[in-house]
Amino acid sequence: MTKIITLDGPSGSGKGTVGRALAIELGFNYLDSGLLYRSLALNALINHLDLNDEFGIAATVNDVSLEFSLCSPVVTLNGADVTDEIRSERVSLASSKIAKYSLVRKRLVDFQRKFSRGDGLIADGRDMGSVIFPSADLKIFLTASVKVRAVRRYKELIARGENVSLRDLERRIALRDKLSLIHISEPTRQAEISYAVFC
Ligand code: DC
Repeated sequence: MTKIITLDGPSGSGKGTVGRALAIELGFNYLDSGLLYRSLALNALINHLDLNDEFGIAATVNDVSLEFSLCSPVVTLNGADVTDEIRSERVSLASSKIAKYSLVRKRLVDFQRKFSRGDGLIADGRDMGSVIFPSADLKIFLTASVKVRAVRRYKELIARGENVSLRDLERRIALRDKLSLIHISEPTRQAEISYAVFC
């Protein structure tokens, strides 16, 4: 039986760091669901798609091929290295917008469930314990104050050369928390998106 540990909470709460460390330590598979939304958002930005078009964005689920490794920070999207860009502020903003589309969320349900294989899975996201893996063996919710999360994000973006203000970041993070309403949806067909995690 595959053990499932869900790790939910807002951006910047440290889920990624904890999730990756746990997955490596336990030898479990790792699902970074935020990366799925980020990859759809970045793909839309690259191809100048209308971010307000829910149907159009949901239709691109099959066009995106995402790869990342548990052992390295490198992320590729349709073969191109997007390591820096996928975590940029513009992609954060765009992904929070498309993540509220129920059509997009529905298309990703079954796909995310396929990550449950082998000895176990660490599933990192917002709706892992509530929607995607409601019967998980262990459900963790990790959070931190908006201020702490903003400072963490600020340091990350500054280190990456982005010109941001801490105050703006705090405001945006608080706004994104509000936008991040989870739409409970029935699983639909498996998305064709290809997503590989290797070590
Ligand atoms: O965790 P993150 O910042 O990489 O997530 C990117 C965006 O996707 C963020 O706006 C929250 C959203 N998201 C979501 O709605 N559901 C998930 N399971 C994971 C992320």
